[in-house]
Amino acid sequence: MDIRIKLLLVLVLFIHVLLASGQNQDIVYLQALMDNLKNTPPSWVGSDPCEDKWDGITCTDSRVTSITLASINLSGEISGDIGQLSELQMLDLSYNKGLTGSLTSDIGNLNKLSSLILVGCGFNGPLPDSLGSLPQLSYLALNSNGFTGRIPPSIGKLTKLYWLDIADNKLSGSIPVSDGPTPGLDLLVNAKHFHFGKNQLSGEIPPQLFSSKMTLKHVLFEDNQLTGTIPSTLGLVQTLEVLRLDRNQLSGDVPSNINNLTLINQLFLSNNKLDGPLPNLTGMAVLNYLDMSNNSFIASKIPPWFSSLQSLTTLMMQEIGLQGEVPVEFFSIPQLDTVVLRDNKLNGTLDFGASYSNHLRLIDMSNNNILGFTQRSGYPKNLILTGNPICTENARESFCEHSTESNSTYSTPPNNCIPATCGLYQVSSPNCKCSYPYTGTLVFRAPSISDLGNSTIFTSLQSSMMTSFEMHKLPVDSVSLGNPTKNADDYLDLTLNIFPSGDERFNRTGITRIAFMLSNQTYKPPHAFGPYFFIADNYDSFSGGPKRRHKSMSIGAIIGVSVGGCVLVLFVVIAGIYAYHQKGRAERAIIKNSPFASWDPDKGSGGRPQLKGARSFTFEELKACTNNFSAAANVGSGGYGMVYRGSLPNGQLVAIKRAQHGSTQGGLEFKTEIELLSRVHHKNLVSLVGFCFDAGEQMLVYEFIVNGTLKDSLSGRTGIRLDWMRRLKITLGAARGLQYLHELADPPIIHRDVKSTNILLDERLNAKVSDFGLSKPLGEGDQTHVTTQVKGTMGYMDPEYYMTQQLTEKSDVYSFGIVMLELITARNPIEKGKYIVRQVKEAMDTEKDLHNLREVLDPILSLSTEQLQGLERFVDVALRCVQETGNRRPKMSDVVKEIENIMEMAGINPDAESTSTSESYEGKSKGNNHPYLNDFSYSGGLLPADLEAK
Ligand SMILES: *[C@@H]1O[C@H](CO)[C@@H](O)[C@H](O)[C@H]1NC(C)=O
Ligand SMILES: *[C@@H]1O[C@H](CO)[C@@H](O)[C@H](O)[C@H]1NC(C)=O
Ligand SMILES: *[C@@H]1O[C@H](CO)[C@@H](O)[C@H](O)[C@H]1NC(C)=O
Ligand SMILES: *[C@@H]1O[C@H](CO)[C@@H](O)[C@H](O)[C@H]1NC(C)=O
Ligand SMILES: *[C@@H]1O[C@H](CO)[C@@H](O)[C@H](O)[C@H]1NC(C)=O
Repeated sequence: MDIRIKLLLVLVLFIHVLLASGQNQDIVYLQALMDNLKNTPPSWVGSDPCEDKWDGITCTDSRVTSITLASINLSGEISGDIGQLSELQMLDLSYNKGLTGSLTSDIGNLNKLSSLILVGCGFNGPLPDSLGSLPQLSYLALNSNGFTGRIPPSIGKLTKLYWLDIADNKLSGSIPVSDGPTPGLDLLVNAKHFHFGKNQLSGEIPPQLFSSKMTLKHVLFEDNQLTGTIPSTLGLVQTLEVLRLDRNQLSGDVPSNINNLTLINQLFLSNNKLDGPLPNLTGMAVLNYLDMSNNSFIASKIPPWFSSLQSLTTLMMQEIGLQGEVPVEFFSIPQLDTVVLRDNKLNGTLDFGASYSNHLRLIDMSNNNILGFTQRSGYPKNLILTGNPICTENARESFCEHSTESNSTYSTPPNNCIPATCGLYQVSSPNCKCSYPYTGTLVFRAPSISDLGNSTIFTSLQSSMMTSFEMHKLPVDSVSLGNPTKNADDYLDLTLNIFPSGDERFNRTGITRIAFMLSNQTYKPPHAFGPYFFIADNYDSFSGGPKRRHKSMSIGAIIGVSVGGCVLVLFVVIAGIYAYHQKGRAERAIIKNSPFASWDPDKGSGGRPQLKGARSFTFEELKACTNNFSAAANVGSGGYGMVYRGSLPNGQLVAIKRAQHGSTQGGLEFKTEIELLSRVHHKNLVSLVGFCFDAGEQMLVYEFIVNGTLKDSLSGRTGIRLDWMRRLKITLGAARGLQYLHELADPPIIHRDVKSTNILLDERLNAKVSDFGLSKPLGEGDQTHVTTQVKGTMGYMDPEYYMTQQLTEKSDVYSFGIVMLELITARNPIEKGKYIVRQVKEAMDTEKDLHNLREVLDPILSLSTEQLQGLERFVDVALRCVQETGNRRPKMSDVVKEIENIMEMAGINPDAESTSTSESYEGKSKGNNHPYLNDFSYSGGLLPADLEAK
């Protein structure tokens, strides 16, 4: 063969390999998407989302066809790269409130997309016109975001659309209808759901919107600013079941042909300016719920035909000018449960008849002109007649008492068991098991239920939900419902808790699948509940993701090569360069997401900068040494997450601070934090043993300090007796630790949260300052303060810092002064509303023995026979530390010198090792060690970078 052809072949082959190793092109775009997102699932590693089983990604023939990532706390923006996932059919990102920014117009490139579900996120900005270029789209749910602008007319081109939910946004302008070449929503003849409520839509409801071709079941336009009349074309949409036009500014007559809508269950026309006569609704044979309140109808009697509405359960006709007598037949509607006729001009004598419906639960006729009632067979349970002439004489009758309907307190009862006592954030399920439920609010937009006190209805909701979860093989143990409330929009809100089966937590797959069932309306509630939506709370308790797999890039099969001339070669070269470029982009994305890759000792990159001895642990290792983070290993918790005690294979005891999801930070910030912590070494500082940045977890591993916090010992909880000598020694140790941070660490570090719970005691009662959680390095050079948001703990906080937000090392000195006062009084800095500084100052009299402080001293000190040598000087130092202004406070090195002096005067060698504490235990009870326990009052942050982000 010609050598040139050979060369060409080799080149083409090479480029094919390159292309193939650019492999599944979707990875590149997913990586690019990840660039802009936080909290992507930890399983999103490896080079092939299809083969590596990325959470929430489904593939067909190695192409991504579905992304369902609801409720996993994603945050950031969705970049235009999404438009490149050309095989995508399903996109559900619901309930990620941190997803913000506008919806990229590149979404319009997804011409296979059939479902776009972005319920309850933080999106804003206008809806892109390109939504109209999704020919396959049948399900579009964008409700409960912050979208603004108009409804794009182009949506009218989505001929397959059956679900259109844009409710609860800030959309404005009129409802678009087609006009010549311009599309409009009137073309959506396959749509069953127009959910447009709770927006700012204005203008008239265009008559053209409705026609006999439409097949709509739910038209929900409530709570907008629509004006004009109700178009008579609405009467042509014979399929309608739920119609909400309430809370607009509609006026004029209700068109008479609305009576043609024979399938209507729920009709809301309330809170408009409708005038004309009351509409004839006799055709609505299955009408359950009718609300016509607060309109301007022509004053009229209650029409006799009302009693022919035999399916009515709820009738709301407040303030619509009703007059005359209430016909007796009215109360014999068999299912009637709630009747509100208040604020009308009804008069005469009430007659409930011999056979009023025994379902009647509430009849509110307050503020009418009712004179009395005939008591042929009593009167219904909850009859309210206040504000009627009858009540001027019978004011003490129960029906004349002001009664407000009490809210239902329904909540799912335990299922024949005794509720368990559960730990923090856990909830006892209906089956009485503690676990971390997935929670949120179910909102029913047009319920026909009025009686929220009837538990039967909720029980049926629960069991239908469980059946549905079971049918879809979801890991659900049970569900509970609670707090039923009708809100200001007449929606019914219910809290929903979904409990995991098997494990005590859901994993991401479980959550996204459950969330999808609700966001996608796979679950259908019993009919009486009507249309609904669900808004999830953040789920912060995911169980650890699958183990990270480090897979080398798979080189796909090399397809046969044929040389089709220079043009092909050129094309392939360009494509190759493109693929290479994209691969680079993907790799950059990988580096950004795993900043520790360059620390990998296996790679021999020598890239473990300044990591003096801190080890990198895998999630599995730490899991093993804490017995799978068992409750028994849990020794504390704080805003950032949990602290576990573990034992490393070499026998070393460690304390593992595990950031909870939501408190984690970016990888780079975490890395910076570890570099900082690993540089700090002093015998009075708790040292970092290692860290874990794996499987989506961020953990810090510290040496375990056996005797717990100073606070525990002062409060007597540990049974360790702290005599005066020991207190001096602890003070000195802690002061030296802080001195090191301020004056010897490079860069200097301000602790920011010095307090007695952050000073730990080892087996020899050496003080070790812990929790650099709020620490903040000072800048290089002459910088003496940093301006930050105020963080810290009440009682210990430097008032000057609090006011100026300028943090200096003198803020730590202040807090240390408080700790010193705590050391002599064993009181909380703020106890029963009294501040320790004031208490000491008030009691103090320098003329007297012990500065007259015996009263405020810890009884252990004041009652002991021990000489409290140097106590006066100690108090003086403490009070200098808590001077108002920083420049009048001593430096930590001054404090250290003072304490050393005091000790020498008292005849103690400051540098002598004390003996082990074991003999001084006085019934130290197991499980009382809570070192690292840190209930920040101001911040749940784990690390300084985290603070700056807030
Ligand atoms: C609908 O109502 C109008 C007027 O009320 C009536 O003339 C017409 O026949 C009805 N159409 C149907 C299909 O029932
Ligand atoms: C109400 O409409 C029905 C037909 O749907 C009709 O038979 C009836 O006469 C009407 N009643 C009134 C009072 O207009
Ligand atoms: C009730 O009101 C109607 C209309 O306002 C009036 O014609 C009628 O006389 C009143 N009946 C009584 C008993 O006051
Ligand atoms: C019922 O709940 C609503 C909203 O939570 C509240 O505004 C109202 O005061 C409650 N009513 C009673 C009687 O407790
Ligand atoms: C509760 O609701 C169910 C179903 O709607 C009904 O059968 C039952 O009679 C109601 N119970 C009470 C006490 O109203």
